[in-house]
Parts: sequence; structure tokens; C-alpha cells
Amino acid sequence: MPPKTKTHSLARVEAEAHGLDTLVRCYWREIAAPAGLVQINAAAYPGYPGLSPCPLAPHRPYVAVISMPHVQATILAPLDRHPHIGIPDVDRYWLRRRNSCEPLNWKTFADLLLRELSAHFGQLPAAELREQLGLSVDVSTMILASRRPQGVDLGDPDQAYIQSEQSLLRGHPYHPTPKARSGLLDSDLTTYSPEVGAKFSLHYFAVKRDAMVQHSILAADAQTLIAAEGPSHLLSDPSWALIPVHPWQAGYLLGLESVKAALQPGAGQLLRYLGAYGPEFSPTASVRTLFASSSRFFYKTSLSFRITNCLRRNALPELAGALRISSIMRDLKIELSEHFPSFYPLEEQAYLSVCLPSTDESERRKVTEGFGLMLRETIEAKRQVGEVCLVAAALFGNAGGGRGLIRRLLATASARYPQLPRLDLAKRWFAAYLEQLIGPLIYLYNQAGIMFEPHLQNIVVGFADGWPRAVYLRDYENARLVASRLKPRLALSLSREEQEELLYPEDKAELRFTYCLFTNHIHEAVRQLSYACPEIEADLWDLVRVELGRCLRRFPSAHPTSLLEGLLKGRPFPAKTNLITRFTAGKDALASYVPIGSPWRQNAEYHARTQSAASGQLPRALA
Ligand SMILES: Nc1ncnc2c1ncn2[C@@H]1O[C@H](COP(=O)(O)OP(=O)(O)OP(=O)(O)O)[C@@H](O)[C@H]1O
Ligand SMILES: [Mg+2]
Repeated sequence: MPPKTKTHSLARVEAEAHGLDTLVRCYWREIAAPAGLVQINAAAYPGYPGLSPCPLAPHRPYVAVISMPHVQATILAPLDRHPHIGIPDVDRYWLRRRNSCEPLNWKTFADLLLRELSAHFGQLPAAELREQLGLSVDVSTMILASRRPQGVDLGDPDQAYIQSEQSLLRGHPYHPTPKARSGLLDSDLTTYSPEVGAKFSLHYFAVKRDAMVQHSILAADAQTLIAAEGPSHLLSDPSWALIPVHPWQAGYLLGLESVKAALQPGAGQLLRYLGAYGPEFSPTASVRTLFASSSRFFYKTSLSFRITNCLRRNALPELAGALRISSIMRDLKIELSEHFPSFYPLEEQAYLSVCLPSTDESERRKVTEGFGLMLRETIEAKRQVGEVCLVAAALFGNAGGGRGLIRRLLATASARYPQLPRLDLAKRWFAAYLEQLIGPLIYLYNQAGIMFEPHLQNIVVGFADGWPRAVYLRDYENARLVASRLKPRLALSLSREEQEELLYPEDKAELRFTYCLFTNHIHEAVRQLSYACPEIEADLWDLVRVELGRCLRRFPSAHPTSLLEGLLKGRPFPAKTNLITRFTAGKDALASYVPIGSPWRQNAEYHARTQSAASGQLPRALA
């Protein structure tokens, strides 16, 4: 960590406030609300002595009262609205225990939470959770203390994209450890974190072709594509090929026994370490996917340390699966571009890795997964001149940073409708965004049977004159094929390995897709756009309802009773349980979901609840 300067102390205060907010949100969404432990009351509700009128936040007409029954504590969150769905923005949380009411801090809440969950689940937290919670706040502190001041320059489209990828100071708003990066030295954090504006050259190994695995869907094979961008002059003869890795990963790989053995000079030598070479790449929001404007590709590298909570290693079945999705998407290219001319799925185009002889299976996997690299096409080929591309999380996540960007885009966009009042302009702008976003994803899911994960970090938005012009979809690693929706010819063409890697049951696919698109993405976009303007929240949800209805009519589902259609009838949105998964040490891919309510439940019910709260009667807990 940097020395304890004033900057560091202020950064720590901010990091703990972020940490508290995400942790309370996780508890509220995953445990308290589903168990009926949350009430939204009028701030002047007489059942809470000392809160009438609310001294916590005089301009907040509501208070969320969140119980932690096992530790006999209550969290109070002043709100500016009775939410249509989910959890609105909260500036400050308060802790009520016995007769006291005091500002809540991260450390106290983390302790209370671990005790509460231990009693709730009847088990201790996963071994490393406490440490990971602390680590996430430590990394946040480092990021906030070391960040560069310039932000995202919308006037410079060539820079704005990577600046947006590197601007995510807050991270995932519903993850208990959004910034945890385990096993890194402090100096690694400042060298490799996107949030501090990191840039570095790739490190190259030479590998004997017999020890290389590769596949490409382009005319050239992976090693030729790499050779065109890397130091091919350092290869002594054509029996060797190049493989680039992230610089941190180079150090990790060089420490593995089988890599050390393969580096030994002699007849059996399989690897040579060539060191850093070539232009500087910048890490995008995922930390491990790297961008350079001079390169034809994003390099999705492996990192054998945990980011958020997963080791980011590229296993061969995942690489092969992602490439297969690319070829399936190619077959749909004409149809897709006819329906959606400004929707650009970013192909994963080639992968490569290294297989070394080793008697130990775990060592073999460490090497193959540790070298695994995917080449993804860049945005540059599709970006129009002057188009500003921004990762959606930089807009609809990232709290005040995101709202600042939206404000600046709207200021430019207003040139088209100079007379339009500000809130009406925001609605029109959001409608234009929804029109770009929802249609292609519903089409792909409903009619092609391909489930993507269009969460805020996997979508890049292109803007022309401040207006959404294009949507870029990335990350095929977690894309899946929904067996019941596939065209028979495609279903029959899948090999056994592809079936195992890619096929997904309808119920799971639907939850994951709906969560990513509606809960993680659109719901957060509504939260940002209606920040401090509760009066437009219902209108924004109306726009979503209209666009979803239009897309479902245009691209109907073969299974009309599905969750997607159900959403319009008031079925609750699902939310992934990141906290529960971390607490119970479950696998991320097996995470469960909880309902967070619907913005389209009967309006009458919504108004009834609001009025009962305003009149001081105890309303039903939020579902
Ligand atoms: N709203 C968000 N939703 C999901 N992830 C987010 C969000 N905001 C920040 N993130 C972060 O973005 C990263 C997403 O990881 P993900 O697995 O999608 O990417 P990846 O597969 O590593 O890389 P790429 O997206 O380049 O393929 C995680 O570190 C996650 O914490
Ligand atoms: Mg991603």
C-alpha cells in the first residue's frame, strides 16, 4: 500500500464507504428482502423513536429498515423514493442497536454480517471470506489514492474507449469483494490495475510447435497472427512459434517446475523466454483482457490469481467453446446485420496455449491454462469516424463517475432537440439505447438459442453526437446454447465435447440471461438515470416495457410461458447471489438467484404500498 499520506487517508474513507454500500446491498438483496426483513417506511413513521422527523437525512421521505435478527441489529437507509424495484441509491447507512442510532461503518457491518450469516446458514463463513473483504477495500484504497485525474475525454474518441474501461473505481455494486485481487504485491497492483491507467508490453515465450495447441477461425492460424504482431525475428527456425503472456503471468509461469524444465537448453528444450516486446497494451475493465489501438486484436490473457472471486485462467475447453460460438455467430451474420445493422458481436477469432509433458496432472493444467490466450477482434474495424465507444459499466455503474459521463453525453445529444426539457431528453436518449440493446439479444436468445451474458462489463456502447449509435457485445466464454431452442441442424452438428461445454438447460439459461440483461444492466441504467429524479423512474421502466414487448412480438419465443414473457406480466427479476456464493464457498457458475420484485407489478399495488407508507401504516416488506 502507498504510505499513509492525507491522500491515502481520504482514499481509505472513500473505499470503506464503497465497501459498506456494496456489502449492505448484497445483504439487503440476497438475504433480508427475500426473508421479509426489509420494510420501507415513511421517514416520519412513529414506530421509530428518534426518527420523527427523520434526523438521519431531512430531505429523504422514506427509510428502509433492514433487520439482522441474529445479531439484534437494524440498519436504516434513508431513501428519496419508495422503489419500483430493487434498491435505490443510498448516501449513508445508520445502525440502530438497543437505544442508540449511529452512523454505520464498513468494519462494524462486515463483523455483524459474518455473524448474522453464520447464524442464518448454521455454518462458518468460507475460510478466506473475511480476508477477501479486507483485501477488496485495500485494493480500492490503492486505486483511489493512485488514480489519475483526467477521467474520460469524450472529445477524443481514440482515447475515450480505453479511458472508460479504466475508469471503474467502484466495480460491481452487488459483489461482496468487487475489487479483490489476491496474491499480488502492492507494486503489482499499481503496475497492472486498469483503474490507475496501467500500460505495459506483452512478454513473449518461444515454444516448440509440437508443444503448442492452437485453433483459428480466420484464414491464418493463430501462430501466424501472433507472428505478425510479435518479435518473430527472435525465432531461430520455423520449428518455434511465439506465445505472448501478461507480464505478471510471465513471472508466475517461470516459477513452475515443468516450465523451468522445458526452458533447459539442449535437444529437449521446448520453451525459450524472450521477455518484453512491442507496443504497450492497456488492461480493460476485466484486468486480463488487453487493448492496444495498434493491434488487430484484444488479447484475452490468463491470470493465475483471483480477480473478484475467480481465477482468470483460460482452460482449453473454454477457449474451444468460445471459438465454436464464434463460428455459430458467423452463420447468423447476414440475418443479424439485416435485422440489427448497428449491433456488433466481437468474434473470438483464435486461441493458443502450451502443453508440456508432466507426470503431474495438476501441473499440466496449470501450464496449459496459464498460457491460454484468446485473440478477440477489436472494435476499431467497426467504429465509425468520430464515434465514441464506452463500456456500459462506465456509464450505468461507477456511481457519480457514470452520471457525469451521462450528463456530458446528454449535453451533446441536446443539439438535436434544443427545445426539449432535460428529463424528456434523457427519456428519449434511453429509448434510443434500449432500441439498440434489447432486440439483438432477444433475437439471439429466443430464435437462435444462444445465451450471452450482456451484463454491464460485457457491452460497449458507441455514441455519435451523444446519441447511442451502436452496441458491441463481447465475451463468448460464458455464452451457452439452449438445447430446446437450437435449430436441429446445429444441434446435430455439436461434438460430444461441445455438447458438454456449451449446452445449457432452459431454466438456468433464462435466469442467467434475464439477470445479466435486466437486473445487472437495465435496472442499473434506470437507477443512474433517475438518480435524484424519482419522478422519472416509472417512465423509464415504461420505456423498457414497451421495447421488450415490441422485441418479443417481433422475435417470439418457442416457449411463450418463459421468464422473459413473464417479466411483462410482473414476474420478479432474478438477481445472482454473489454474497451467498462467497459465504458458502460455492462455485460462481452454480450461483443461485433471488427475486427482487418487478417494476411492472400492478400499478395499483405499488400506489397502495406507497400510500400506506406515507400514512404511517406498516407496509408489507418488499419482495
Ligand atoms: N456491473 C458489473 N457486472 C459484472 N461485472 C462487473 C460489473 N462491474 C464491474 N465488473 C467486473 O468486470 C469483470 C467481469 O468479468 P468477466 O468474467 O465478464 O470478464 P472476463 O471474462 O474476465 O473478460 P472479458 O469481458 O474481456 O471477456 C469482473 O472483474 C467484475 O467484477
Ligand atoms: Mg466480461
